[in-house]
Amino acid sequence: MSVNKEVKRITTRSLQEMKNRKEKIAMLTAYDYSMATILDDAGLDVLLVGDSASNVMAGHETTLPITLDQMIYHAQSVVRGASRALVLVDLPFGTYQGNSKEALSSAIRIMKESGAHGVKLEGGTEIVESVQRIITAGIPVMGHLGLTPQSIYKFGTYTVRAKEEAEAFKLRTDAKALQEAGCFGVVLEKIPAALAKEVSEELFIPTIGIGAGPHCDGQVLVVNDMIGLTKGFKPRFLRQYVNLYEGILGAAQSYIKDVKSNDFPNEKEQY
Ligand code: KIV
Repeated sequence: MSVNKEVKRITTRSLQEMKNRKEKIAMLTAYDYSMATILDDAGLDVLLVGDSASNVMAGHETTLPITLDQMIYHAQSVVRGASRALVLVDLPFGTYQGNSKEALSSAIRIMKESGAHGVKLEGGTEIVESVQRIITAGIPVMGHLGLTPQSIYKFGTYTVRAKEEAEAFKLRTDAKALQEAGCFGVVLEKIPAALAKEVSEELFIPTIGIGAGPHCDGQVLVVNDMIGLTKGFKPRFLRQYVNLYEGILGAAQSYIKDVKSNDFPNEKEQY
């Protein structure tokens, strides 16, 4: 049963107020209606329809293949399940890097067709013009710095970013540029905790960390990792709260056994 149906919606302003009063922001990814309903009932502040759907829902190796239409489909399902959480949607690879006009039309499609409440884009100063244009149209934007998985072929690896001074300096410059452009928050992915602390203190807007230590204003995880659905994926930053892979595997094995042995359905499970 849903418990949040009468609750006021979290807004970008609520997130700013949470940072101001030092209340941490809890964010998880979601890609479908059922999961969104559970996470919304649990009280998550933000549900991110991440392009990690490309990995965990579609089985691709990277986030690059997922399309705008596919992101909109996932976002529509999540929006239908979320009555309290703010729903953000990733602009997928290839739908905003070309120019700011393309970025705006992709963001408008997401907002119009899914009913989500904002978008997230990967990148720093190089996408500031697009960020400004989207925000000018009234669409809230969250930035994403550090490990930006859409650039995996440029990085060549998923290891920690901005360990060297030059990259750390660029990240701090990018974070300030995104804030000045009007972003309401920024994700910091897989960077040293000390750097995330500096950025979180320098910015007045909230930072949301993933593999970026405890000093960010909020935390995000990919829900499938956090509930143990992604077999064998255990990076150091991940806290796995339940092992659903084992749970579902066991349930499926019991079901097979019951069907094969003619135990299911029994007398009470028929008409
Ligand atoms: O796509 C995603 O899941 C993300 C989070 C890791 C922040 O961008």
